[in-house]
Amino acid sequence: MGQYIIEGCNRLGGTVKTQGAKNSALPILAATVAVGKPCVIHNCPQLSDIDSTIRILRCLGCKVQRADEMVFVDAGNLSQRKISDVLMREMRSSIIFLGALLSATGEAVISAPGGCDIGLRPIDIHLTSMRKLGVHISESHGEIRCTCRRIKGGKIVLPFPSVGATENIILASVKSGTVTTIINAAREPEIVDLAMFLNSCGARISGAGESTVVIEGVERFNSSQYAIMPDRIVACTYMAAAAVTGSTVVVDEVIPSHITPVFSAFEQAGCRIETSGKQLRITSPERLKAFERIQTMPYPGFPTDCQAIMMAVASVSKGITIISENIFENRFKHIGELRRMGADIKAQDKIAVVNGVEHLQGAFVNSTDLRAGAALVVAGLCAEGTTTVEKISYIDRGYAAFAENLSAIGAVIRRKDNL
Ligand code: UD1
Repeated sequence: MGQYIIEGCNRLGGTVKTQGAKNSALPILAATVAVGKPCVIHNCPQLSDIDSTIRILRCLGCKVQRADEMVFVDAGNLSQRKISDVLMREMRSSIIFLGALLSATGEAVISAPGGCDIGLRPIDIHLTSMRKLGVHISESHGEIRCTCRRIKGGKIVLPFPSVGATENIILASVKSGTVTTIINAAREPEIVDLAMFLNSCGARISGAGESTVVIEGVERFNSSQYAIMPDRIVACTYMAAAAVTGSTVVVDEVIPSHITPVFSAFEQAGCRIETSGKQLRITSPERLKAFERIQTMPYPGFPTDCQAIMMAVASVSKGITIISENIFENRFKHIGELRRMGADIKAQDKIAVVNGVEHLQGAFVNSTDLRAGAALVVAGLCAEGTTTVEKISYIDRGYAAFAENLSAIGAVIRRKDNL
């Protein structure tokens, strides 16, 4: 496991470019299995979760070629319908292959997915939805065998707008020759990106980004080239880096409308944000102010993936900020690590009360999950002295060239990989 070693309190400046969105790239790569025609995906970030997805594609018999941020996939000749337990455990998104495999072959054999330990993360909504679509599911010895001769379509009402379940229903239904309607669908921009990719291949999906999504299953697809949208969470991370260091930074390749709820927290903290096309400039004050209560919610609410990052910001924002985590039940593990750095945070159940201190202090801290790790890097950038962030393999799941990008805008950060 590697480390990031950060010398804090350095002013940042210049332009940093975000990467393609991990949470779009993963389902879109899985979707190539349903498409079954050669696809070229551009702006695919170089992340360990993308490596895991490519391993799954290759195990299923897809031809995959990768060159920098371009991935070519031809899933025209699948040789497997089963994803091994080892591969399933590498990340939560492996579950999205369920819908894609059912579309392509009528069969999928999987097990419970892995991923960051931020809560129980059950897959009951995925499986119930598949059953409603006519999929027969049997579970034994940890193996989940799903088979379906014909997806029957119809109306599926989600009890919660789960991102993954919405993606799985879209993928399972997309080639069914019948109509499926999802009510209370997730509205995240990543759902829109998936639908746009599939539509570019000949699918007929309407309403993506709204609560009702209609999938008119088609018979066949065509090849396509598609570029993944920018990563909104990475954009917010670079904004947080600028905010805690009192810096002015331009973040390039962002879609500002995707991050509106996070903008208002930065603005309340005293930052000025100017947007122009796919760029934004954040100008930060010498001392940040506490901001209004943050409550994580499904999109278009405040994203849970930005909660830890904004807690790092609140840790040095004068006054009291209250943060409620409403999506995942175990997503406060970074609090203990931020406290090691001198943060004044009290937490009970899903509510954290952050009393912003003047300065954090560098310390040895552990990434406890992907976004928690990024939050600790942000904290390290404004801490006095040296911060060593351990277990950075979590951060590698979601941030491409993190240290290089931060160094390029003036941060003093280096990566040390243990051999
Ligand atoms: C996706 C994102 C993740 C983000 C999350 C919420 C990807 C690869 N990951 O995860 O970064 O934090 O959305 O925006 O896109 N739930 C159930 N049963 C289910 C499914 C979900 O109870 O069958 C619960 C989860 O445990 C969680 C909540 O619903 O408490 C949200 O989960 P969901 O929206 O499905 O998130 P993911 O798709 O796993």
